[in-house]
Amino acid sequence: MVQTDLKPTLTSLSDFDLKTYLQTKKELVEKALDESLTIEKPEKIYEAMRYSLLAGGKRLRPILCLATAELLSQNEVIAMPTACALEMIHTMSLIHDDLPAMDNDNYRRGRLTNHKVYGEDIAILAGDGLLAYAFEYVAENTKNIPTERIVKVLGILAKAVGANGLVGGQVMDLDCEGKSDVTAETLTSIHRKKTGALLEACVSCGAVLSGASIDDLTRLSIYAQNIGLAFQIIDDILDVTATTEELGKTAGKDISSQKATYPKLWGIQTSQTKAEELVNDAITQLSVYGKKALPLQAIAQYIVKRKN
Ligand code: FPP
Ligand code: MG
Repeated sequence: MVQTDLKPTLTSLSDFDLKTYLQTKKELVEKALDESLTIEKPEKIYEAMRYSLLAGGKRLRPILCLATAELLSQNEVIAMPTACALEMIHTMSLIHDDLPAMDNDNYRRGRLTNHKVYGEDIAILAGDGLLAYAFEYVAENTKNIPTERIVKVLGILAKAVGANGLVGGQVMDLDCEGKSDVTAETLTSIHRKKTGALLEACVSCGAVLSGASIDDLTRLSIYAQNIGLAFQIIDDILDVTATTEELGKTAGKDISSQKATYPKLWGIQTSQTKAEELVNDAITQLSVYGKKALPLQAIAQYIVKRKN
């Protein structure tokens, strides 16, 4: 009886109004981001940082952090500075990823890339500024939380950014460009670092701030690793199947820059099936939390159904 009550049935998951949930959280995040970074002197750099930070987007990373805090402590407010920091880090990684020395892209989130508006020099510095500010923002604005949890969060963020996370994943990604013999293992390793590490950090930070147990952290890490990989598989599929307008960035870029992708390795249908399997496993990981896990489970489902 109790067990039935705790386990979300498929009906309750499909009944969950994710659209409204995401919209509500996105509005909270947009407001917090807008307030997090005001224009100071030299104005040019603050404007460049705000240009990309406030360019919209799904805000999936901060929402994952808030939803995890809500799941474990029913208190998302404690996680808002970290949620903003995660979006600052994500944004800076995109600014740098779009630079001519990397992917050389002209459009991001439906508008011109940072270097196209402010020039390469300022775009590099805007990325650096956002990265440093992310850590400052967590350290100075996280309130009513034991200091050791905040220190742990800062460590998780640093690890996700560094050579075993985004930076290392990007290096491997660039190394594989133009190569036709990239294996599924290498591709998965790239994406675990380049995309998965930060997505996992979103969930882990929300959990640590909420005083998660080791069991909570293990389950949530598996959930995050699965959705991270599924997210990237779908990203690769959308690069082939969606339009530039739908994506808000240049479609077909993986083929033109000869990137290793899952559709290239497995075909679109098998890639889609693998993403669905990963998401189903992620959903199952959280079934122990009952209905409280519905937002995170619905977000996992959304990752395979999204169109941009
Ligand atoms: C987009 O990938 C890029 C990333 C997910 C991260 C790239 C990481 C860096 C540039 C390192 C940043 C530096 C620090 C210090 C963190 P994609 O090119 O596959 O996707 P896209 O089509 O959206 O561009
Ligand atoms: Mg890119």
